[in-house]
Amino acid sequence: MPDPGEKNRPRIVADGPLDNTVLGFMADRLELLPWDVARDGTAEPIDGVYTYGHPPLNGEILDRLPGVRIISNYGVGVDHITVPDAAARGIPVGNTPSILDGATADMGMALLLASARLIVKGDHYARSPEFTHYDPGYMLGREAHGMTLGIVGMGAIGSQVAKRARAFDMKVLYSNRRQRKDDAALGVEYRPLDSLLGESDYVMLTCPLTEETRNLINAEALAKMKPTATLVNIARGGVVDTQALYEALRDGVIQGAGLDVTEPEPLPRDHPLLQLDNVTVVPHLGSATVETRREMARLSVENLFLGLEGKPLLHEVRP
Ligand code: 8YV
Repeated sequence: MPDPGEKNRPRIVADGPLDNTVLGFMADRLELLPWDVARDGTAEPIDGVYTYGHPPLNGEILDRLPGVRIISNYGVGVDHITVPDAAARGIPVGNTPSILDGATADMGMALLLASARLIVKGDHYARSPEFTHYDPGYMLGREAHGMTLGIVGMGAIGSQVAKRARAFDMKVLYSNRRQRKDDAALGVEYRPLDSLLGESDYVMLTCPLTEETRNLINAEALAKMKPTATLVNIARGGVVDTQALYEALRDGVIQGAGLDVTEPEPLPRDHPLLQLDNVTVVPHLGSATVETRREMARLSVENLFLGLEGKPLLHEVRP
């Protein structure tokens, strides 16, 4: 028997599977259609699009989905959505900024510390049959406290990283499109990117992926870093040239890397970067805490319903 309420529920195309928290906030108030509909197109009216795991969404796809009034993204970064295409069609795009800054900055520091102090390698060794006696001479890491951290992109997440790094007595440099007026208050010093790369013991990427930042960290940039330096990427994989990073880590151009994100994501399972033991990599977990993800679910579903009602979104991305 068809559900009698079915035809009155807004029809939403979403990539999934969506987790239960998101589904809980949607509470059966929507008719969810799979992403195949976006791929293949439909003549049936669609009310909205919900992007969950970064599916590419551009004007060509939107033109295959007649009637879309709202695009709501689960997450802050919208590099997978061609926002000007949505704007040209009068479709607002919602996202979930602010609430994930703390969790993502925590992950940046976790990767920095894990890389510096060989946490993953140490964990594997401590569990292995090889660990039969303690040796003060093995597994010497690098200091984090008192060292210099260079943050590329001093937005909301970058500022949260800076605050944490200052608590570790780190000197904090940053590069950004514009020098911030409040940098002294934040305890950070502006540097052009090249100087930042040369001076930093740790370089952390927190900038959005744009045409300007794609492959910003290429072979040339990596060569400017100290051979003892570690690169931490909590931004987007595309900010780094993956092949160049692999070669720099393999050849000792830099010492290590801590990666929350990669390009492509995931890397092919046999990618040589994954064979290097000076890389710590996690599968895009920056905002992956119960608390933050719940807020992202709440906010993104609220944006979706506001958009369906033609009301202003809680957070709208401007092209
Ligand atoms: C999310 C993110 O996990 O918000 C972002 O931009 O990259 C992550 O925090 C992601 O958007 C959910 O797919």
